[in-house]
Amino acid sequence: MRILVLGNGGREHALVWKLRQSPRVSKMYCAPGNGGIVDEAECLPVDLKSLDSILTLGQQVRPDLTVVGPELPLMLGVVDEFTRRGWPVFGPTKAAAQLESSKSFAKEFLQRHRIPTAAYAICDSVDEVREALSHFHLPVVVKADGLAAGKGVVIAASKEEAASVAAEMFSGKMVGDAGARVVLEECLKGDELSFLVLSDGERVAPLVAAQDHKRVGAGDTGPNTGGMGAYSTADIVDDTMRDWLVHHIAKPVVEGMKAEGAEYKGILYCGLMMTARGPMVLEFNCRFGDPETQPILMRLESDLVDALEASIEGRVSEGDFKWSTDASVCVVMASGGYPGTFEMGKKISGLDEAAAVDGVKVFHAGTSKRDGEFYTAGGRVLGVSARATELETALQRVYQACGKIGFDGAHYRRDIAGRAMKR
Ligand code: AMP
Ligand code: GLY
Repeated sequence: MRILVLGNGGREHALVWKLRQSPRVSKMYCAPGNGGIVDEAECLPVDLKSLDSILTLGQQVRPDLTVVGPELPLMLGVVDEFTRRGWPVFGPTKAAAQLESSKSFAKEFLQRHRIPTAAYAICDSVDEVREALSHFHLPVVVKADGLAAGKGVVIAASKEEAASVAAEMFSGKMVGDAGARVVLEECLKGDELSFLVLSDGERVAPLVAAQDHKRVGAGDTGPNTGGMGAYSTADIVDDTMRDWLVHHIAKPVVEGMKAEGAEYKGILYCGLMMTARGPMVLEFNCRFGDPETQPILMRLESDLVDALEASIEGRVSEGDFKWSTDASVCVVMASGGYPGTFEMGKKISGLDEAAAVDGVKVFHAGTSKRDGEFYTAGGRVLGVSARATELETALQRVYQACGKIGFDGAHYRRDIAGRAMKR
């Protein structure tokens, strides 16, 4: 089989790495890929913001399977267009991807189907926000409706702050068109959990759960990022909780989407808050998470190609995945200044020494390769990952590997999975 992965991040490197392990794969392509993926797949140029560019690439390569990494191509309708041409493609249609592309759609959907989520109000003007604020306690969460790459959520300490953030969103200055509509939400407290399932439009198969670390600084301080690290262990959720999440969240979502005529195929990423009132949905993503995919796929022992095909062909069953009981962890090494402005083109050293540490795999995100050397080419540069029977050992390995890697301005969190270690 010839497989094409669309995307250029750490998630896509992990997908390429895992898909290639399948004996069914004869050739891997990735578009556009990155400096590390070049060594594991043939990288091809593409503009992921342009449906035409992706369709031209599809016509040139005609892969037996296309796997879409990021959300944008899904929202442009890549799956709809590939499917119409008879090209096998993994992921949800544009209509189904609204669960991620519109927070108001997701909130109203959750309410219609009585799936637990924070209380909310949808507002189309600052006046509506001021009026709605009287129904919320503080702090209150202010969210841009559309896609904002992690920059569309603010936890406001006062009503004045909430109103002024909402005004910024409406003005278009903060997150562009994504802020044309604003969702206010009750602020939930608890541990966050990334719970992903594979869906074929009717049935779901859960993946092992993971925990992301969204804030840039140790102890969950500083601004939000795309994700600074993630881990997964056998006991991050127990079997009872996993079954509850399947039957009270994932399945009702998939059944609800089907009933509403927008069948959901692909990965359904449920971003949850584990509150004292039980698990509640914070958000959906219609794709694999980044960096969660790195530790999740490090624990996968069965064939990923088979699983993704089962989604496309409508034959998912709960036992589609076989998982190791090992723990895995991914630590993101980022450019100086990220998630604010940062410089690129810094030479990266120590990658071979890091990769030689037992159980370690270094996934590339924002890197490029020139004359055999690697350089930084993005905010999140590397996802240094490790697997071991115990979480403690996986952490020792991953931080040993991080210590061997250097580039000007590099920073990373030293407390990934810190809360799990305290427990
Ligand atoms: P979202 O894009 O909706 O997942 O929001 C990004 C991040 O903001 C989440 O991962 C949470 O850390 C935080 N967040 C979002 N909604 C809430 C909420 N209702 N209560 C508390 N924190 C939230
Ligand atoms: N790690 C969060 C995301 O992929 O959106």
